[in-house]
Amino acid sequence: MFKKIAVLPGDGIGPEIMTAAKGVLQAIEYRYGHRFEWTEGLIGSIAIDKTGSALPPQTVELCKSSDAVLLGAIGDPKYDNNPDAPIRPEQGLLELRKTLGLYANIRPIRIFDKLKHLSPLKVDRLNNVDFVIYRELTGGIYFGEKCSDSGFSSDLCIYHNYEIDRMSYLAFEEARRRKGKLCLVDKANVLESSRLWRRRVGLLALKYPDVELSYLFIDNAAMQMILNPGQFDVVLTSNMFGDILSDEASVLNGSLGLLPSASKGEEYKLYEPVHGSYPQAAGKDIANPLAMILSVEMMLRDWGLVEEADSIIQSVDSCITQNQLTEDLNTISPISCSELGHLVAEKILAFKKEVI
Ligand code: IPM
Ligand code: MG
Repeated sequence: MFKKIAVLPGDGIGPEIMTAAKGVLQAIEYRYGHRFEWTEGLIGSIAIDKTGSALPPQTVELCKSSDAVLLGAIGDPKYDNNPDAPIRPEQGLLELRKTLGLYANIRPIRIFDKLKHLSPLKVDRLNNVDFVIYRELTGGIYFGEKCSDSGFSSDLCIYHNYEIDRMSYLAFEEARRRKGKLCLVDKANVLESSRLWRRRVGLLALKYPDVELSYLFIDNAAMQMILNPGQFDVVLTSNMFGDILSDEASVLNGSLGLLPSASKGEEYKLYEPVHGSYPQAAGKDIANPLAMILSVEMMLRDWGLVEEADSIIQSVDSCITQNQLTEDLNTISPISCSELGHLVAEKILAFKKEVI
């Protein structure tokens, strides 16, 4: 198979985790006889520094002419505490999502048995935890009209029927492939836009009598995710609530560094870790590359490369089982980001030797 990949390492630890992911993809190329053309582009703070724009037009072109986009991380602390910054790195990512029409953000939450003891939750709370968050990504309060005056500011939360329908359709289909349960998370007791979600999802549910639909308010859902995360299968929610819930869900495993994501629209696909740019770790070779590597795994699976994707999972599992992990998950004898990347790649190649 030949595929073109747009690679946007971005800020902070982005370049380091991306290098690790590249090594893994090279191992896949070598073992399975594929060819992946890898072209890098600028986004985020580094793009602002080099071009004055968080998303230069060349990057958009590159993404549009590729089969998939891999993104590392976005964000730099120099912008975080400056509410008056005229331009922000995050704008690059938001604009890219909007331009590519990536309305569905899919964040699977997997628990690795060997890591259960690192979870902030008691181990017995982690039974049967295996769910996926379907977060709407190009609407809601993130993209509604913004205005600011000397005495007030506002961010409009707007959702149209079509935005809810296309997203909910994907979530129902996923529920049908999984355990047949869909939970809509909203704030319908307060927000008009949430009541629209309930109406539209309720209508679509008529076509999915085999899917058990439930509803939770966001405040309750945030609590349930700690009390009994095993109750969830597919969680469907709006942009803002999905952002918050997915960070909460990601640490059930003990580290934010393990959670991958896929963002999809009608035409394009982008894969990125859920975690941020972790600026304190930048350049130190200590970041966990597994969320990035597992994002590559999601990309390969979407291309129908099941065996290839499985080999990544097997290699990551093996590193976890042998405690070959970065310092977020192994404080006593951690290995570096690059070492962990090499190990995953080597294990993929070693499976080949066993086959021969
Ligand atoms: C995420 C991130 C982004 C978001 C930021 C970097 C704009 O937190 O992908 O979850 O809020 O969507
Ligand atoms: Mg987030």
